[in-house]
Amino acid sequence: MNVIQWAMSKLPAYPRGKSVFKKYKALDFDFVPEKLPHRDSQQKRLFTIFGPIVDSNVSQNAFITGPTGSGKTVLSKKFCMDFQELARKGGKNVQFVLVNCRQRNTENAVMLRVLSHFQPHFPDRGFSINEMMESLRKVLEKEKAHLIVVLDEVDVLLKKTGSSDIIYHFSRFNEEGIEPKKLLSLILISQKNIYEMMDSPSLSTFKRGNIIKLDKYLRNELLAILSQRIELAFHPDAVELRVDELIADIASELGDARYAIEILEKAGMLADENKEGQVSFEHVRAAKAEIYSTVTESKLADLDKNRKLILIAISRCLKKNAYTTTGDVEKMYAVICEEHEEKKLGHTQFWKYIRGLDDIGIIQAKKSSKGLVGTTTLISLPDIPAKVLEEKLMDML
Ligand SMILES: Nc1ncnc2c1ncn2[C@@H]1O[C@H](COP(=O)(O)OP(=O)(O)OP(=O)(O)O)[C@@H](O)[C@H]1O
Ligand SMILES: [Mg+2]
Repeated sequence: MNVIQWAMSKLPAYPRGKSVFKKYKALDFDFVPEKLPHRDSQQKRLFTIFGPIVDSNVSQNAFITGPTGSGKTVLSKKFCMDFQELARKGGKNVQFVLVNCRQRNTENAVMLRVLSHFQPHFPDRGFSINEMMESLRKVLEKEKAHLIVVLDEVDVLLKKTGSSDIIYHFSRFNEEGIEPKKLLSLILISQKNIYEMMDSPSLSTFKRGNIIKLDKYLRNELLAILSQRIELAFHPDAVELRVDELIADIASELGDARYAIEILEKAGMLADENKEGQVSFEHVRAAKAEIYSTVTESKLADLDKNRKLILIAISRCLKKNAYTTTGDVEKMYAVICEEHEEKKLGHTQFWKYIRGLDDIGIIQAKKSSKGLVGTTTLISLPDIPAKVLEEKLMDML
């Protein structure tokens, strides 16, 4: 008996009812579906921008931007796969490499990833960026290939390295000689405006017109995405009617397709865990609660002490009420600062922090309708119970 068999024999047997899943993989973040509902026009736009690579000697670049879960990564992958196929039919060798700059956040690591597409054993040290660029040029010339480099979450790289040299190098990347061939094109992806983070030489080489802006998904768009995944990943009838609508309702607040698919996946797992054979509304609600808590926890962990104290004040004010006011929160915050022997923020700063917490979605702040004392700002917690939030924060402090 090997170690794994031994470990398995110690574990309770996996409950083996009929699973609701037909193809679990179709819910994976890396999965690229055949069609991307509601991203047709953006795909066409990319084809228009990059089309000339196939029949003329050019290189192109584009910038894809939009909020979390709006499909930036999957759109770029799908486009590259389809474009490669189209180019192949036209007799042109197009290759692409997608680099996630959160995982590879130095220029060296990015270059290594790109090179390893062609030379899997390229040594991971001892070469300068220029030497690596040179190697890449040689490979592309040898293979008569045009390479599309996709730098996903590129803001992380720009921020970490504090320079945009690599974009400058990539967008000037040509074959040498009298009639140089254009060998490389670039797609940059970021939620943030990267133009503000680029220095002028890089900006001058980067075509700024080719921006593709994705909006957050509307409810009916999420519904189409969910229906597709249900059909791909689940057995027929394994998902109760209108479960997709409930998930679309929940996720449309953020317009985030990842969140929608995550709820669907988690709900399916809960149905399997309880051996119920069908995903129900209750599974969706439970899935939502579980996912929300992991999302909030990571958001909370990022907050500094003052923001945590303000949130504790908000939770205390909200224990018995649906809404509280900034005035009440500020008073409670003063008390809590004393409890924690922390110097309290001034009024203006306090306000700024409240707005910041609203921006990241932990609290909801909205103006009340005008009453006797003029307008006031009402604060609520969209999902997490106040008691739970306070406990989590106290643990963290
Ligand atoms: N139009 C669509 N059709 C089908 N699936 C989609 C669509 N848009 C997004 N998805 C799916 O939703 C999830 C999130 O999409 P994606 O990873 O592309 O978002 P993103 O914009 O890159 O988000 P982030 O900024 O957080 O990286 C993925 O599983 C993706 O396959
Ligand atoms: Mg992404």
